[in-house]
Amino acid sequence: MINRILDFIRPNKFSDTGQEVQELMKTIDKQRLPRHIAIIMDGNGRWAQKQGLPRAFGHRAGVESLRDIIKLCCELKIQILTVYAFSTENWKRPREEINVLMDLLVEYLKKEIQELCKNGVRINPIGRLGELPRPALDALSAAVKLSSDNNGLILNLALNYGGRTEIIDAIRAIATDVETGRLKAGQINNDTVAAHLYTAGQPDPDLLIRPSGDFRISNFLLWQLAYTEFWLTSTLWPDFRRIHLLRAMVDFQRRERRFGGLKDE
Ligand code: IPE
Ligand code: IPE
Ligand code: MG
Repeated sequence: MINRILDFIRPNKFSDTGQEVQELMKTIDKQRLPRHIAIIMDGNGRWAQKQGLPRAFGHRAGVESLRDIIKLCCELKIQILTVYAFSTENWKRPREEINVLMDLLVEYLKKEIQELCKNGVRINPIGRLGELPRPALDALSAAVKLSSDNNGLILNLALNYGGRTEIIDAIRAIATDVETGRLKAGQINNDTVAAHLYTAGQPDPDLLIRPSGDFRISNFLLWQLAYTEFWLTSTLWPDFRRIHLLRAMVDFQRRERRFGGLKDE
């Protein structure tokens, strides 16, 4: 609370932030941007609870963060953004919270689809979508249809998504190919598995961001994150804005990715 009050009375807070954003924009090497960014949008509940508000307020506030991040990704011409919105384990939460999340998804898609299309965003939901409630499925199908011809940012919306479930689904499909004689077991390699994941045809994430101070994957993109660079922050998702993503990108560009090999001389 005290931080929030300070934020309001600090006279040049917004220009400071604006200046840092501008500086970071200049610092970033536009030729070496991550092609694929993945984000675990976590910390909504804690954000609300910190202010004595019900968790639902945190989920609603988190939508603002997503909006800002998508906009920046479009401005920088990032190819793919994958956001973790609802996991296969999130069904363990109270029914009311699940309803809030599903309602918010429908509201978001209906309200934002025009703006998303204007920015060239293509909506690509990933997960066991058939298990989502009917209204969510309908809103998703409509958004996918409306945005299918766009050729800007691909927005992978991970919904009822689990990394293990994704791998199980891939194994089942591959096993069927083997059973029906289309494939020999000995031919299965990295490419075979990747081609049967929900992200088939997409490059693996270069950068994974997890806000809110937890240091775990929580069943996200287990296969795809093999050589992804992680960027963790204690900032809660509803407070996460483009400035944080820019900081993450600058940090990403300073890293040396070796993929198990040796440093380039
Ligand atoms: C992320 O925020 C949103 C979803 C998991 C759907 P949380 O609801 O997990 O917020 P915290 O982690 O409890 O703060
Ligand atoms: C991961 O966050 C899932 C989403 C952000 C959608 P969780 O809050 O569900 O993960 P845990 O329970 O802290 O590991
Ligand atoms: Mg959480």
